[in-house]
Amino acid sequence: MASLAKELSAAAGAAFEAMGLEARFGEVRRSDKPELADFQCNGAMAAAKAAGRNPREIAGEIAGALKAHALVLSAEVAGPGFINLRVSDAALSARAEAVRGDAMAGGEKAAAPERITLDFGGPNVAKPMHVGHLRSAVIGDTLQRLFRFLGDEVVSDTHLGDWGLQMGHLISELQDEQPGLIYFDAGFTGPYPAEPPVTMDDLARLYPQASNKAKADEARNERSQKAVAEMQAGRAGFRALLTHFINVSVASLKQDYAFLNVSFDLWKGESDVDGLIPEVIARFKAKGLAVESGGAWIVPLAREGEHIPVEKNGEITYKNAMPPILLVNSRGGTGYHTTDLATILDRVEHMGPAPDRIVYVVDQRQAQHFVQVFRAAAKLGLMPEDRLEHIGFGTVNGADGKPFKTREGGVLRLADLNSMALEEAFRKIDAAGKLPEDMSAEERADVAHKVAVAALRFSDLMNTRITNYVFDLDRFTSFEGKTGPYLLYAAVRVKSVLRKAAEAGHEPGAVAVTEDAERALVLQLDGFGAALLGAREKRMPHILCEHLYSLAQAFSAFYGALPIASDPDDAKRASRLALADAVRHQLETGLDLLGITVPERM
Ligand code: ARG
Repeated sequence: MASLAKELSAAAGAAFEAMGLEARFGEVRRSDKPELADFQCNGAMAAAKAAGRNPREIAGEIAGALKAHALVLSAEVAGPGFINLRVSDAALSARAEAVRGDAMAGGEKAAAPERITLDFGGPNVAKPMHVGHLRSAVIGDTLQRLFRFLGDEVVSDTHLGDWGLQMGHLISELQDEQPGLIYFDAGFTGPYPAEPPVTMDDLARLYPQASNKAKADEARNERSQKAVAEMQAGRAGFRALLTHFINVSVASLKQDYAFLNVSFDLWKGESDVDGLIPEVIARFKAKGLAVESGGAWIVPLAREGEHIPVEKNGEITYKNAMPPILLVNSRGGTGYHTTDLATILDRVEHMGPAPDRIVYVVDQRQAQHFVQVFRAAAKLGLMPEDRLEHIGFGTVNGADGKPFKTREGGVLRLADLNSMALEEAFRKIDAAGKLPEDMSAEERADVAHKVAVAALRFSDLMNTRITNYVFDLDRFTSFEGKTGPYLLYAAVRVKSVLRKAAEAGHEPGAVAVTEDAERALVLQLDGFGAALLGAREKRMPHILCEHLYSLAQAFSAFYGALPIASDPDDAKRASRLALADAVRHQLETGLDLLGITVPERM
């Protein structure tokens, strides 16, 4: 059964069509004045304008047609041509039952599902993640869950950063510490030891050590540059080290992501497309798209109208033009643009059926990079520009309004963030004092973990993705306000109502809606499908967050207004328990799409 809003839209659309007007005018949505109507249709005004007719007259005819519809209790024209609709109790009851019994909890599949490669996470080997990587992981994973739920075929890839200067820093710094390692013997050709020569802690120490030295000392930086160029050119010992570094990093990354319920199908990285880079370069050259420039090769990307020549001291520069990409540097090395292009080639030509679309969930500050990569990919004929999509997001800021840093001033490691959130979750649980006395230490730890994840994920997802937000762990972990823990608490409360009723021998039964609080609850349940599709279409998880928050509030109002398990009337009690169960089902389904799991008790 489709949502009531959708069925009413279809009926209103047909009524407009019958009058020779466009069906789209029939869009029906939830009324913003619940005391006057359940739903409203505002299309008569626009239709009247298009047809040069009287809006109230059109609205009157549409309302007349809708009155005959099985779901409709009343249809009234108000003001200049608004149509206010009330649906029948029976329609609401049937809808609640449908939601309760539906695998999608009232959601609907997308009309045109796609095959999507989802590139998110993007951590760099050895370099600690910053909070921007947290956002990419959380938003990307939520989109992955949402897309799959709505019928898209998703292949997710974390696209590790493992090809840049940081690898040169690691290799040269390790060489300084342990010059005797076999990896540095240029004459040795393998096989190399299977045991990694470093741990994650070593990597976490070596990288900042080298990068700080390189910042202060150009000669030291040059050695890192040389090491990465040699690695990229295929020096066996350095490649063996690269593999070790990746494996050690990935093992630790997997733990950090698992904590947050984030998963990837593929753990590929920049280094995986090394073999395709010559091909990409050759294609750019063969098509005459690459230009030599001081020993390097660039691909100009500026378009007509973007060229604004500016003369300064006899030199002409182009203002506002899209800068070219550096395909190959003068050392023969390749960077971020080229590996991204080779990765598109890989995804389109070498990984089974080509995706309809590649979606990148990456910090908004990389917007220009993606415009450049997409233009270059389109020029090469790899994929049309409109099938490549950058889903950007704002920064996570500290109280000072600048991108969040640790107290020591450094970037925050994901592992540290996770443990901070876990600690705070334990503190909040203890302060609330709500956990049942008989709870084992293990179950308590599990609840704390779920609270921590709900806090981190929801506080990130509830914001419009593009805006920045302030990191405030105390607020995120609070059980009050628009937070993940509040939603968990709401869902646990529904579950506990149902469990206690079951213990007393009361089961959900047929729904018979009569009261206002029941009507409001079902109308809220009815909006789930539209929220899901809206979140997918705009790639905006906050739309789903809003829906779930409002649902929790509607349940709270229902719970406050009416007895549920304690109603002495068998039919009413069974009906309200079924309503509660529909809410539980939709809340759990929706929260799961946000990567948030509801504990049994809390
Ligand atoms: N590793 C990159 C960074 O830390 C993010 C990678 C995003 N994905 C991509 N295909 N470029 O900034």
